[in-house]
Amino acid sequence: MSDELIDPDIRKAHTLPSRFYTEESVFSEVVAGFSKCWHFAAHVSQLTEHNVLPLEHMERFVGEPMLLTRDDGFRCLSNVCTHRGMLVSTEACSASVLRCGYHGRTFGLDGCMRNMPEFGDVESFPGSSDNLREFDLKRWNGLLFAGNGPSRFADCLAEIESRVGWMPIESFEHDPSRHRSYEIDANWALYVDNYLEGFHIPYVHGDLHEELDYDSYRTELFEGGVLQVGIARGTESCFELPESSPDHGQRIAAYYYWLYPGLMLNFYPWGLSVNLVIPISVNRTRIVYHGFIWDHSRLGKGAGGGLDKVEEEDQGIVEAVQRGVMSGTYDRGRYSPTKETGVHHFHRMLAS
Ligand code: FES
Ligand SMILES: [Fe+2]
Repeated sequence: MSDELIDPDIRKAHTLPSRFYTEESVFSEVVAGFSKCWHFAAHVSQLTEHNVLPLEHMERFVGEPMLLTRDDGFRCLSNVCTHRGMLVSTEACSASVLRCGYHGRTFGLDGCMRNMPEFGDVESFPGSSDNLREFDLKRWNGLLFAGNGPSRFADCLAEIESRVGWMPIESFEHDPSRHRSYEIDANWALYVDNYLEGFHIPYVHGDLHEELDYDSYRTELFEGGVLQVGIARGTESCFELPESSPDHGQRIAAYYYWLYPGLMLNFYPWGLSVNLVIPISVNRTRIVYHGFIWDHSRLGKGAGGGLDKVEEEDQGIVEAVQRGVMSGTYDRGRYSPTKETGVHHFHRMLAS
């Protein structure tokens, strides 16, 4: 028998102990580990209309207020004014300089301090510590990822590239009308657990079940994430896959990517829905959706059609599970070896 918390053999394994969903100390320890991960920052089209975009969610993930600027390129900067710590920007805007609203210090879009009122007599000023600190930023097919000294990330992007890299992701357009922000009374990992299996689709999502071929639904594991492939029952609402696609000839309705810890990239024939799972506390989680359109004529159809309804159904389940895992009668369950490989993979990552 394996002495690991989650046995690598799914047939022998027991699910994650309920303390992962209910105990403050376990929650804090897990979330502290997020600071070394890369996180989704934005799609480049979110910086078309504006050139300054504060990234509130990064504060939850890495403990640092950050913002993006677009000038000759994209930069991820600290959103903390170097004078007395005010947040430099609290909403998206277009500006040629960043101006702190507290005492008027200005910074270039590259983060360099430009001007500060009433500081004429200050010695050795400005110095390099008066500039806004710059964070790591990576760009992949129009998606920007940021981190604070994060560890490596390249492998899972190569995985996604090989599968959906043929899509013109870079030119997808941000659609603010598809933005959603929800708060639910549940631990973030329960939301991820639920996302990582299609097992519940026939029981929870009647309409989605009519679109997807349940028996063909596939789950693929890779380092740092999980891909679920939804196969359409009909031929109407699927991708027109080019020959270069490894899935050419199949009726694919959706590619559901999850990357540790809380990023979901859902590719549909109409475009991309990015979902961020943002931990607020041990039993409270914010879910943020951003939508990026590829083909307007395919909106509202197929597996990616009724997203609000599916979301509501999932949230109802996840909140009820939170109440369940707090019970004294429940600690751990078992996995279905055919339907819960994604959940098992995630639990192995969490437990290590
Ligand atoms: S805190 Fe920004 S100018 Fe004073
Ligand atoms: Fe669901």
